[in-house]
Amino acid sequence: MSLQAAKIEVPKGSTLRPPSPVKRRWGAPLNAPIQDWRGRRVWLVGASSGIGLACAKALHAAGAHVIVSARDLGTLSEWAATCKSQGLPVELLSLDVTDALQVKYVARQVAASGKLDFLLYCAGHYRAQRATEFDLTDMLRHQDVNYNGLLRVLDAVLPMFLQQGSGHISVVSSVAGWRGLPNGLAYGPTKAAVTHVAETLYMDLQDKGIGVSVVNPGFVATPLTAQNNFQMPALISPEQAATAMLAGWSEGLFDIHFPKRFTAWLKLMRLLPYRAYFALVRRFTGL
Ligand SMILES: NC(=O)c1ccc[n+]([C@@H]2O[C@H](COP(=O)([O-])OP(=O)(O)OC[C@H]3O[C@@H](n4cnc5c(N)ncnc54)[C@H](OP(=O)(O)O)[C@@H]3O)[C@@H](O)[C@H]2O)c1
Repeated sequence: MSLQAAKIEVPKGSTLRPPSPVKRRWGAPLNAPIQDWRGRRVWLVGASSGIGLACAKALHAAGAHVIVSARDLGTLSEWAATCKSQGLPVELLSLDVTDALQVKYVARQVAASGKLDFLLYCAGHYRAQRATEFDLTDMLRHQDVNYNGLLRVLDAVLPMFLQQGSGHISVVSSVAGWRGLPNGLAYGPTKAAVTHVAETLYMDLQDKGIGVSVVNPGFVATPLTAQNNFQMPALISPEQAATAMLAGWSEGLFDIHFPKRFTAWLKLMRLLPYRAYFALVRRFTGL
């Protein structure tokens, strides 16, 4: 439902008054909370493993009609067969987000089989990179998957959501996008961009009936982080990440970050002046 009160003409001399706009507590989340997933159609882009797959499974268990996309869906066929036998099938639609035509084609397939209620963009590419080993090809690869891929999917999904006047766009970003970090030369800027897009979408779409959220995980044990050669603080499982995400959506939050014992410190560090921030990062990472 649109949050902006419709303009209603009141005839001259009438004692009727137009309804007042919906009143919200100052600072309250603008998204409609999603507590009941039964019957909702959810498209998860980049969900063949890790956080995306854990969310797909959690949403399916909560009764959602789940559509999973990624390049390699081979490992999901057994799960899909089980879901089908249980009476709530999942759809597997192969997709490479770096291919604009494929994105358009798959989005059309998604739309053709029913109204879409929720989009989760979690496709991600990460390789540690430092300025001393600057690699333009990999820099651009990060940009193409993490940022341009999101734009291609938005280009296909936004018109659908605007036309139906409902929907929710959730984007998996990262705490690595909050401020510059060593090893994050290629990855961090793409996540900063993704968060910026989400912030603007949230403001632009609040009165169009479309919810927007940004997910900022700390360290989650997935194939993406398996390459890290350091001990990851406050490491959680993909299932714990999915639980935190569903909890965030159920409260209508914009900023869903977890685990708080880690992200709360990073939120504080985000506010520090450069001098203190750089000194602390150096101290904690040794880099
Ligand atoms: N793990 C963490 O600690 C952490 C922390 C902060 C943020 N994140 C973010 O969380 C999201 C999920 O990552 P994850 O940790 O769960 O890692 P993951 O298991 O490696 O998941 C990445 C997903 O992206 C998909 N993908 C990659 N390139 C793609 C492409 N060109 N087209 C379509 N799909 C593509 C992969 O599927 P295919 O290879 O089959 O295409 C896979 O399903 C990413 O955006 C990541 O940046 C992760």
